[in-house]
Amino acid sequence: MLKVIRYLRSRLKAQLIRRYLIKRNIVFDGLPAFWGPWPDIKNEGRMTIGARCTFQSFRLRQTMTIMKDAVLEIGHDSYLNDGVNVCATRAISIGHHAKIADMVYIYDTDFHQVSHAVPVRRVPVTIGGNVWIGAGSIVLPGSRIGDHAVIGAGSIVTGEIPAKSLAVGAPARVIRELDVPDGWVRE
Ligand SMILES: CC(C)(COP(=O)(O)OP(=O)(O)OC[C@H]1O[C@@H](n2cnc3c(N)ncnc32)[C@H](O)[C@@H]1OP(=O)(O)O)[C@@H](O)C(=O)NCCC(=O)NCCS
Repeated sequence: MLKVIRYLRSRLKAQLIRRYLIKRNIVFDGLPAFWGPWPDIKNEGRMTIGARCTFQSFRLRQTMTIMKDAVLEIGHDSYLNDGVNVCATRAISIGHHAKIADMVYIYDTDFHQVSHAVPVRRVPVTIGGNVWIGAGSIVLPGSRIGDHAVIGAGSIVTGEIPAKSLAVGAPARVIRELDVPDGWVRE
């Protein structure tokens, strides 16, 4: 009996997730898993979610905002943790098997001008496959993080982080190259 109830509950949850995604025009390749409070997604552009992605919240909902004409792509098998905040005004691409730790912020815009003669910066962000971004990090407009890279907790990424490297700090600087095979996926 308990098994049947569990099964029916999981079917119902799957239906609700499907409806949630369709209502927001999100293109998905297989249903993502939602654990805890569901992400707060405002999609006025284009959002795609690859197969087998997980959105996990414990205390804080994740927030994803995709403005008109902007694109947010999340690759297959990616994992987004508690309180992740993503805002795309142009394009943000997160590769497959990405691990985005709790309270990571990813923006492709500064939102405000630095001074009156300078327009607001809006530059696409690219995060490669099998990238792990440590808790509390901020990925700023124009950042490009290569495949397999690791960003240490509390880092601020502002530019290019090469593939297979470990970068830490504010601004994030490479402290080590990582010797990992191409097809490898970290736990
Ligand atoms: C980067 C990390 C993975 C450690 O990697 P590591 O290869 O074991 O690196 P080490 O601990 O040997 O540190 C190497 C150097 O970088 C420094 N360092 C490590 N992590 C750092 C960070 N997040 N910010 C700034 N400096 C850092 C260390 O102090 C050390 O400096 P030193 O050489 O002057 O002593 C770990 O520090 C980290 O940030 N983990 C993220 C954990 C997390 O956010 N988990 C969330 C759940 S998904």
